Amino acid sequence: MRKLLLTLLCLITAHSSASLAADSNQSIFSNTKLLELAKRLRDSDPQGVSNSNVKGWQSPNNLQNLPEFDDMNRRILQVCQRIAQSQHFKANHHFRLQAWLNISPPGAYNQIHHHANCHFSGVYYISLKAPECGSIFFRDPRIASRMMSYPIDQPSDFTSTEIQMRPEEGRLYVFPGWLEHGVEENKSDRDRISISFNVLATPNG
Ligand SMILES: [Fe+2]
Repeated sequence: MRKLLLTLLCLITAHSSASLAADSNQSIFSNTKLLELAKRLRDSDPQGVSNSNVKGWQSPNNLQNLPEFDDMNRRILQVCQRIAQSQHFKANHHFRLQAWLNISPPGAYNQIHHHANCHFSGVYYISLKAPECGSIFFRDPRIASRMMSYPIDQPSDFTSTEIQMRPEEGRLYVFPGWLEHGVEENKSDRDRISISFNVLATPNG
């Protein structure tokens, strides 16, 4: 089952994991700068918004409108466009982005959820302490697979119903918006800071 889920994830999200920034001279943006921006935004709106986040802070869904995030937003769209090409999307479409920041302190996690009305969802990790910060996990989307659980001591490729992806700083993960996912509790002593996004392919004209 795990193999099947991984295959599903890989097939649909070919080239879905891309290493982006590492504060090198070649990188088009800096994680250090993104970290400063994230903290500045949180300080300007400590309440934030509440969605899947538990004990964590989430910004309004508006990074696509903030010039400070232009480089990041452009890069996310480039990656999604590459995936769309590899999946034979029609050419006469443009891509709309909605993005937001997450700051998850120790003890915070994200409940399982999905993103309706978008083709791609994803996350870019700015800062974390792995592996204690927790993994993003994806649940088997086949409803029938939940009809009966296996009496197992530990999951195998045949019996597992979800997969985890361990986050890495500077890495972008993209997956289908319909795929249910969540993020484990941050059990490290550092904030887990990321940008999440949805992308919708819209016909031109
Ligand atoms: Fe999500």
